[in-house]
Amino acid sequence: MIGRGQAASGHLIYRGGEAFNYHVELSPAGIALIRPPTIRFRSTHLNSIMTKTRDFLGPYRLTRLIRVGSTAEVWEAVEENTKERYALKVLKPSLASNKGEIALLKHEYNVAKDLSSPRIIKILEYREDSGRPMLVLELFSELNMKQALRRGPESLAFMLHQIIEQAAEGLYYMHTKNWIHLDIKPDNFLVSRDGTVKLIDFTIAQKKKSGLAKLFHRARVAKGTRSYMAPEQIRRKVCDERTDLYAFGCVLFELCTGKPPFTGDNPNDLLNKHLSASIPAAAAYNDNVTRDFSELIKSMMAKKPENRPPSMWEFLKMFRAVEIFKKRPRKPEVSVFDSMPGIKGAEDMIIKGNTAGLDSES
Ligand SMILES: Nc1ncnc2c1ncn2[C@@H]1O[C@H](COP(=O)(O)OP(=O)(O)O)[C@@H](O)[C@H]1O
Ligand SMILES: [Mg+2]
Repeated sequence: MIGRGQAASGHLIYRGGEAFNYHVELSPAGIALIRPPTIRFRSTHLNSIMTKTRDFLGPYRLTRLIRVGSTAEVWEAVEENTKERYALKVLKPSLASNKGEIALLKHEYNVAKDLSSPRIIKILEYREDSGRPMLVLELFSELNMKQALRRGPESLAFMLHQIIEQAAEGLYYMHTKNWIHLDIKPDNFLVSRDGTVKLIDFTIAQKKKSGLAKLFHRARVAKGTRSYMAPEQIRRKVCDERTDLYAFGCVLFELCTGKPPFTGDNPNDLLNKHLSASIPAAAAYNDNVTRDFSELIKSMMAKKPENRPPSMWEFLKMFRAVEIFKKRPRKPEVSVFDSMPGIKGAEDMIIKGNTAGLDSES
């Protein structure tokens, strides 16, 4: 039996913002942090911990902390009545009454309301429980593309064509609904072991501007993620789907070389490279990348939007006509997805029985 603020064993290990919790800990709010990949609990033990801790937000029982970001915690949760599993994106306690952050969360919900595609994560509702504003999301693979790349790019390489195609389709779909994402990066695509991809995180998405709105446009602050920001986004000019295309080009570069196209000694240095450094060729960093694919990526990263492919649709057409690699990478014997508990692919999203929300014991 452990009390609030105590841990049963070990500590939470945070690495690059990821939470690896190999033990049971009760936060001061009485929330159980449980991660069983290395230590597994008998479900009776797990259940008794769960019921004792009142680790609920509304009808959702929090079962696992997936990730802690700068503003929100993402939890795996089970709806007690239906036993369905969801992901909850909950504002951190310190930001729970921050009006700006609440507005961003509501904005994210409003963007997602417009979007219905298997390539885009579904957001079911915005709600507040126990003073915690949150989004209820469809639960999907626990690895985002960045994590998968960092832990073992070969787990993605052999199915990269499918991964890129699905990521591009998600973004293309979003554009057809007149939204631009503006924060395209590997962290904002979820990937499952069978290569299914879903686009997430619509916090700074904007409606595409047209006509007069374009003329009077003036962004107050430049938002985005520096490693993937297009020149027009950095300069706070009007952005459109080609801004996402630039960022997507940077993602493709990283997917096949393991590193983003530009790095800098400091933030300004990095931004300046997007603005004026010559565009690197992926083939120069990985000699298994074909010239055609390397050139396609370079065209997406053109400094001027008019020199990029005009739309994700055009990109998809060109992409379907090229090979990524000269020699097809083999499926590795050990995959980064092997060590992931719970969800193994789309099939595992289907709830089977009462304890399906918990990681089964082995
Ligand atoms: N629906 C989901 N299912 C599983 N994991 C998710 C889900 N949504 C987000 N995550 C995990 O949480 C991380 C942060 O989510 P995101 O919406 O990008 O929040 P932030 O605004 O903090 O970047 C993602 O990179 C992913 O690892
Ligand atoms: Mg994100």
